[in-house]
Amino acid sequence: MDFQLTEEQLMIRQAARDFAQTELKPGVIERDEHQKFPAEQIKKLGELGFLGMMVAPQYGGSGLDAISYVLAMEELSKVDASASVVVSVNNSLVCYGLEKYGSDYQKEKYLVPLAKGEHIGAFCLSEPEAGSDATSQRTTAIDMGDHYLLNGTKNWITNGNSASTYIVIAQTDAAKKHHGINAFIVEKEMAGFTVGPKENKMGIRGSDTHSLMFSDVKVPKENRIGADGFGFKFAMKVLEGGRIGIAAQALGIASGAYELAVQYAKERKSFGKPIAEHQAIQFKLADIATEIEAARLLCLQAAWLKDNGQPYAKMSAMAKLFASETAMKTTVEAVQIHGGYGYVKENHVERLMRDAKITQIYEGTSEIQKIVISREVLK
Ligand code: CAA
Ligand code: FAD
Repeated sequence: MDFQLTEEQLMIRQAARDFAQTELKPGVIERDEHQKFPAEQIKKLGELGFLGMMVAPQYGGSGLDAISYVLAMEELSKVDASASVVVSVNNSLVCYGLEKYGSDYQKEKYLVPLAKGEHIGAFCLSEPEAGSDATSQRTTAIDMGDHYLLNGTKNWITNGNSASTYIVIAQTDAAKKHHGINAFIVEKEMAGFTVGPKENKMGIRGSDTHSLMFSDVKVPKENRIGADGFGFKFAMKVLEGGRIGIAAQALGIASGAYELAVQYAKERKSFGKPIAEHQAIQFKLADIATEIEAARLLCLQAAWLKDNGQPYAKMSAMAKLFASETAMKTTVEAVQIHGGYGYVKENHVERLMRDAKITQIYEGTSEIQKIVISREVLK
């Protein structure tokens, strides 16, 4: 067992850490307050290769491993989870899906600009009545010969307005249930495609989350990903890797809050000494430090399994479950350690606490991760 990071992995981590401090930190409070998408910062992340981290260089990507991806996601998420969710969705749900399962045509046309960060992608599975119960797709894609006719509504779509390439899951043949579901590449400019209003959210407020409406959108046949009926399996396979990204996001939110709490505990004095010298504070820090290390090991193990071609569905679900619960607990404690100063925006921890909550919900709620894990355990 080798716990040593390579030179390249250390370099990626440092680059992400520097970017987070110099480019994401200034303005993060304001973007949260005004729900402002970090467009400039995402453009720069694209130029640096963070939007197609694991994509092969022949398709415009950085050709890095999943471990480097976890390290970068942790560093970016320590500071700005609204920016890091863009990185996660583009890398794991969109680029990975296209590189692994797309045709040569789809890779050339769609993957290359996505991997280079020239375009942003979105992944559209959830619907008003199909969230956890993802097989209950109501969006339909009727086979019209040379194209599919797409109708329906998707909900809660990350990058909903800023994306230009959307992977949309839809029901082609309801009689076949989940075996009649397909995944399609939809362009924003296609006639009949409308972006709905932006959601006004508790956390990750800089991320643009929208519903999307499709009304008789003609999707060319060559935009279907994989064989007919592959769409649900496609979504599940892609989410296995997506959950590593969100686990690393949760880890970053937790470690960002923890670092702020340690620093504050050393500076703030009560009863004549730094609060770090009160055992109640020390024990909080000991608990969260331990849980963060455990979350980090789960994230890295899931990434290692992926990098080494081994099954990782169970480990990515475990990493996401544990890291997101850790993020919630840690951020609540970080606010507590800051006292009243934690309750105001300028000290960052209240935002991290609001941001932590989403990691227990998207890409499969904590309850859904337990379903995935228990099915694997009982196989
Ligand atoms: N790999 C391959 N196939 C898989 C699979 C996997 N990991 N998981 C399930 N499948 C297959 C099953 O084998 C089955 O196919 P067969 O009948 O051919 O065997 C089919 O999928 C249906 O599986 P289940 O019977 O297990 O389906 P289910 O209805 O019980 O649901 C579920 C399974 C795990 C709960 C699934 O519905 C699920 O993951 N729900 C959560 C949805 C989710 O994570 N949404 C995230 C949206 S994206 C997002 O949120 C992005 C963001 O915020 C940033
Ligand atoms: P429901 O499925 O209605 O669940 C409600 C509650 O019931 C939850 O606590 C859930 O855990 C519990 N529950 C449901 N079924 C079970 C069960 N069988 N056993 C035990 N408990 C259960 N989706 C996308 O497709 N693409 C995106 O880019 C995207 N981005 C998102 C961004 C944000 C900010 C948000 C809020 C959501 C996003 N989602 C996205 C949707 C997200 O994946 C869903 O919200 C999530 O999967 C839960 O679905 P739901 O909201 O319909 O909740």
